[in-house]
Amino acid sequence: MFENLCKPITIGNHVVKNRMKYAATVDNFCDTKNGNVIDREIEYLRERAKGGFGIVVSQGGYTHILGKGYVGQMGLVEESHLAGLKVLADAINAEGAMSIGQIMHTGRYGHAHEYGIHEAIAGGKTVGPEPVGPTAMSSPIKRYSPCREMTNEEIEEQIQAHIVAARMFKQTGWHGVEVCAIVGYLIADFLSRWTNKRTDKWGGSLENRARFLIEILKGIRAEVGDDYPLVMRLNATDLIEGGNTNEEYIEIAKMCEAAVRIDLFSITVGWHESPGAAITAEKRPGDWLHLADEWKKAKIKSPICMAYRMNQPDVAEKAVADGRIDIWEMCRPGIADPYLPKKVIEGRPEDINTCTACNQGCFYYVFIDAVMGCMINPRVGNEWDPAYAINPVAKKKKVLIVGAGPSGMECARLAAIRGHDVTIVEKSDSIGGEVKLGVKSPLLYDWAETIRYYKAQIEKLGIKLKLNTEATADSIKAEAPEVLVIATGGKPSRPKIDGIDNKIVTNVFDVLEGKVKLGDKVVFIGGNEISIQTAEYVAEQGKEVTVLEKGKHICFDVNIFNILQHRRLMAKLNMKSMTNVTVNEITDDGVEISTAGGKDVSIEADTVVVAEGMDSEDTLAKAVGTTIAPEVYTIGDCAGVRKLYEAIHDGYKMGVKI
Ligand SMILES: Cc1cc2nc3c(=O)[nH]c(=O)nc-3n(C[C@H](O)[C@H](O)[C@H](O)COP(=O)(O)OP(=O)(O)OC[C@H]3O[C@@H](n4cnc5c(N)ncnc54)[C@H](O)[C@@H]3O)c2cc1C
Ligand SMILES: Cc1cc2nc3c(=O)[nH]c(=O)nc-3n(C[C@H](O)[C@H](O)[C@H](O)COP(=O)(O)O)c2cc1C
Ligand code: SF4
Repeated sequence: MFENLCKPITIGNHVVKNRMKYAATVDNFCDTKNGNVIDREIEYLRERAKGGFGIVVSQGGYTHILGKGYVGQMGLVEESHLAGLKVLADAINAEGAMSIGQIMHTGRYGHAHEYGIHEAIAGGKTVGPEPVGPTAMSSPIKRYSPCREMTNEEIEEQIQAHIVAARMFKQTGWHGVEVCAIVGYLIADFLSRWTNKRTDKWGGSLENRARFLIEILKGIRAEVGDDYPLVMRLNATDLIEGGNTNEEYIEIAKMCEAAVRIDLFSITVGWHESPGAAITAEKRPGDWLHLADEWKKAKIKSPICMAYRMNQPDVAEKAVADGRIDIWEMCRPGIADPYLPKKVIEGRPEDINTCTACNQGCFYYVFIDAVMGCMINPRVGNEWDPAYAINPVAKKKKVLIVGAGPSGMECARLAAIRGHDVTIVEKSDSIGGEVKLGVKSPLLYDWAETIRYYKAQIEKLGIKLKLNTEATADSIKAEAPEVLVIATGGKPSRPKIDGIDNKIVTNVFDVLEGKVKLGDKVVFIGGNEISIQTAEYVAEQGKEVTVLEKGKHICFDVNIFNILQHRRLMAKLNMKSMTNVTVNEITDDGVEISTAGGKDVSIEADTVVVAEGMDSEDTLAKAVGTTIAPEVYTIGDCAGVRKLYEAIHDGYKMGVKI
């Protein structure tokens, strides 16, 4: 089925068992005080190796404290870092994967100054904790402080530090080393004319800008020897005005190949500061492969791997079969499902828990200095924790779950894996809960994969599913479960607004379920994520949509990685929004509002969607109380309205506990 992804490939002196590579992921799982590898990181990567990845890359490790860009980033500096690196390499190697250690000084994106560092020694001098780059500059992004220009001594020192880091990996049993020169970290800062304005030998021409990288590569090659696998991670485009293009990166790649033997290129897209879409759901699997095509056309000698929104094995299989890439690299798909390669090899793609590009648990958490998580995979970062272990049950129980939304289905999955006798009752005619509504929104198309995944698990695990069955106190008593889990979710709230009962008023559920005939002019009251996603669905049908928000911003509950995609889509669909608005009344003709300046305005509408938030659907939970069964629990939005992340995590935690 996926024969090309399953073929071995030789990287340097190492035969890799298949064409699936888990990409470097800084996850904040290392010791925040000293950058040591600890159990959370070891068990996280052990699970990826166990899941069948041919190659497992470590997170990017910093080569100097000023290059530390994330609170729990791995260190590649001190003698004391070696012990953890060895345990980590051993864990990956023992599962039969090729272990590759990544070197990543974060350059202008450094954050040492926010992690308790007041001064450092760099280039033989005591310096402040601010980030460094080839040229002093500030960033358009608030997270990043202005950087200081590196001295020549510091540049030379960092070349050596990269070589030392490579030595540390080799010495501790890693099969290879990867140099990270992407997305705006230090080496990329040197490569780009946007961030490198130096006039000495380190700046100016492409050759000069590439000198820092080439010196690092030559030094590493000399250190590790000719046959030790050396992987080069380079952007294929910066997606920044004034940044490098794919043509320039191809030239840089050729310079790398002319300088040393490169065993594999990993090519990537965009910087953190890129204004355009690179990793959001606006991009479909395979959308970036044309960049790899250019590399192949340019006759780059080394094999090439590429990630970037490639979450579908059939797209990756075809890309490898067609020779567009040699290895399917992936980061978020491997966070979401570490066993993805095993499922590919065994020909059961229906079991893959597909990354939805929500960016909520991975990018967002890491960027706010939290430990990484995953919306759809609650085990992420908890692989080490016995409370998250999936243990067979001591006593098989009859478990009844009410609601086939994500929390109920995840709970059912775990309970069934562990050996319980599980039944789900669902009042509607299909599974998914709010996920099957959300999937209609233009950027949530991957939620269909989540539904597909749970459908397959329900069937394969022998979970009894009773659709079109509304649970009541009587039906539950008749079923006589030993464990009752109520996962009845949420429902749109009905705020007190004059005119809320007007015939033109509706809510997001009714809109998405197709229960209302929408007029041409549709007003949404509420600028939260659910409202915006529903409004996008309506605007896509050609309706004139206006979103009214009482607060300062729309999308106030959308994580920063996804806000821009909504702005871009809303602009494309000609959607309007007004903020700081007070809704006074809904009339037959629309909505009467007051603006922040106190002006009264009428907004014409044929349909008004009240979407200010959700309430728990806890009618059943209240009706049955806590004594209807020996054990009674509530999970998901029914226990308190939150988000999909929490719903799935609630389901997992309950499923491994009961
Ligand atoms: C349009 C939309 C977009 C969203 N976008 C996002 C987003 O981008 N990110 C995010 O994190 N979250 C988002 N959410 C929220 C997210 O979908 C919910 O938080 C999540 O689905 C809650 O899961 P749940 O299992 O608790 O409940 P639900 O998904 O609400 O499922 C509850 C299920 O219980 C069933 N049920 C209820 N009562 C009974 C009964 N008595 N008997 C039998 N069955 C019953 C219902 O029919 C339903 O199938 C969105 C929601 C919507 C509607
Ligand atoms: C939380 C997170 C941390 C990352 N850390 C690194 C890193 O340490 N080094 C690196 O080269 N890329 C890093 N990346 C980028 C990924 O390796 C990958 O290139 C990117 O996520 C796009 O691929 P995907 O669509 O398969 O996720 C990180 C990505 C995520 C989501
Ligand atoms: S948190 Fe979302 S984007 Fe990140 S890996 Fe999980 S599903 Fe994918």
